[in-house]
Amino acid sequence: MDRPLVLLIVDDDQDLVEEVEAAGFTARRVRDPAEVPPAVASATLAFVVMDYDLPGGVGPALVQRLQAMRVPGLRIVALTEVQTAKALLRVFRMGAADAILKPTSGTEIALVLQRLRGSEPDARSPEPAPLVPLRPPSRLNLRVRPKWASPTMDDAPLPILHPRMEEVRAVLVNLETKADAIVQIAESDPTLASRVLRAANSGFFRGTRTYTNLRDACVRLGNRQGAGVLLEAILGEAFRSPDPRFGTLLGVHWGTAVLTARVARWISHSMGARQVEEYYVAALLHNIGEMVMLWRLAASRAGETGSIAVEEAGYWIDEAHEAVGAAYATKQRLPPLVGILAGNHHSARSGEGVYDRGLRVLILGSWCLARQVVGDGVPTRFPLDPEPYLAELRLTPERRDALDRLLLEWRKGEG
Ligand SMILES: [Fe+2]
Repeated sequence: MDRPLVLLIVDDDQDLVEEVEAAGFTARRVRDPAEVPPAVASATLAFVVMDYDLPGGVGPALVQRLQAMRVPGLRIVALTEVQTAKALLRVFRMGAADAILKPTSGTEIALVLQRLRGSEPDARSPEPAPLVPLRPPSRLNLRVRPKWASPTMDDAPLPILHPRMEEVRAVLVNLETKADAIVQIAESDPTLASRVLRAANSGFFRGTRTYTNLRDACVRLGNRQGAGVLLEAILGEAFRSPDPRFGTLLGVHWGTAVLTARVARWISHSMGARQVEEYYVAALLHNIGEMVMLWRLAASRAGETGSIAVEEAGYWIDEAHEAVGAAYATKQRLPPLVGILAGNHHSARSGEGVYDRGLRVLILGSWCLARQVVGDGVPTRFPLDPEPYLAELRLTPERRDALDRLLLEWRKGEG
């Protein structure tokens, strides 16, 4: 009675059924989508897990039909091959409660179902406090937004990116699929090559042997993961300042971003997610607006001496970095998921679904952990406590211990 009934609409995979059943559900498989509406009408179903990419547009039509039946408590999980945030958003707008990228496994499906069960209103963990800035110190004059805090991308300077950035971007947005794309880019610059080697050997990428050869390291990472590492190297190099006052601030902020990305990657991988590389890039760049603002602030004060009004800078960064980040993501044609997260991560946007919320919580929790390790050069008014986010992600004590060990390695200088 405590085993929710799941209807799996898949072609031919008995293993999926068995793995979902082993995780505590009762699963039935059907092959013909036409069988679904009568089955839904005659049974008390908790979930329909369906192949969304069935030929002839049958998938979206079936989701709509099931939605129209208004079965209380029924949730639809779509199995799909779509790769872009835009296409995924379409799946959610059709009414899916979650989506899983194919190929998948029964274990992964069961994890998603368990998470959806846990997010039912009566079982939901308490809402973490929204990250909103506190009131700014009243002695600061904050009426006029300074130019460096403007989200306009056309009339202010931006850092020049590495000449191979366009090729990295092509891999990130899935335009470039040549097997050795990352090798070719990394070979062109010893700094990039050493970053790839270091990443392949780092604990966050689960290396099991030592890689000394660039080609082997690239094979180990794969194109998407390798592109994330190159992006990390290229942006970290670009967002610098010769002025030590700003150079340190930029370094600290980028260090936090890199660790946020690695933590988010580690957590999502340990939870069995399949889109870990997309999450890695989204976590790395979710605060890119902060970097743009600090860099522009540095450029606007070039040649000046004296201290920085860090409280004032912190206020404007908190206030504007999401708008600046979204504008920068558009300008650089960064992956769509980056644009969404860079533009909105401190609070729920209207209509936020389970998937959006899970990703936002993952990134904010990882960011809080990273800030505890790396620090924060600008006094910020956003809270630091990762626990509400980690609680919502339901990290087991064992995973939490393993993550703490990795963070300790980072503290010792692994990163
Ligand atoms: Fe932020």
